[in-house]
Amino acid sequence: MTIQKLMQNRYSVRSYSQMPLQPEHLAQILNAGRAAPTAANRQPQRVLVVRSEDGLERLGQCSRSLFGAPCALIVCTDRESAWQRQQDQFNSATMDASIVTTHMMLQAWDLGIGSCWVCAFDPDKVRRLFNIPDNWQIECLLPLGYPAADAAPGPNHSQRKPPEATVFDEQVPEQT
Ligand SMILES: Cc1cc2nc3c(=O)[nH]c(=O)nc-3n(C[C@H](O)[C@H](O)[C@H](O)COP(=O)(O)O)c2cc1C
Repeated sequence: MTIQKLMQNRYSVRSYSQMPLQPEHLAQILNAGRAAPTAANRQPQRVLVVRSEDGLERLGQCSRSLFGAPCALIVCTDRESAWQRQQDQFNSATMDASIVTTHMMLQAWDLGIGSCWVCAFDPDKVRRLFNIPDNWQIECLLPLGYPAADAAPGPNHSQRKPPEATVFDEQVPEQT
């Protein structure tokens, strides 16, 4: 698949087959995350792989948005190990985690594996149930699995703002 097709076809999968991920596919997905660029190459991401029945049951207590996936990643960052801009202490951890997650999401799709970026979860509960250190930020969940036969893009997938609403030529035009 060309990268253009991959990015245009990918959609948030909210219905999964129960087939477990092939271990080599999971390894490829995690490796794609590892290849992602991070600010000053600090690699502050910390990725938990949840695929046991018990783990998925516990994660299911923290979010209603796992959609029956046979595997889910909990993407965290160790903010203290991320790059910080001197001038205003901007911390790149969340930005780094987003690039890592995007790499994994696109690699997954290239292997025929769906995913859905999930921020709707109870962070305190995830922290407690998965023994996540206080100084890690829980950035997102990424359910992963082969799409079920009835999986289909949601209505938002085809709703993108026109380019002129998000892209500006040289400078922002005067507001009228
Ligand atoms: C930062 C972020 C958080 C999201 N959180 C959720 C979520 O909690 N639950 C969910 O079902 N989808 C979630 N999504 C998926 C978006 O709703 C989806 O990407 C968007 O509607 C466009 O649809 P598409 O991915 O199918 O193209 C999230 C996506 C992003 C990037």
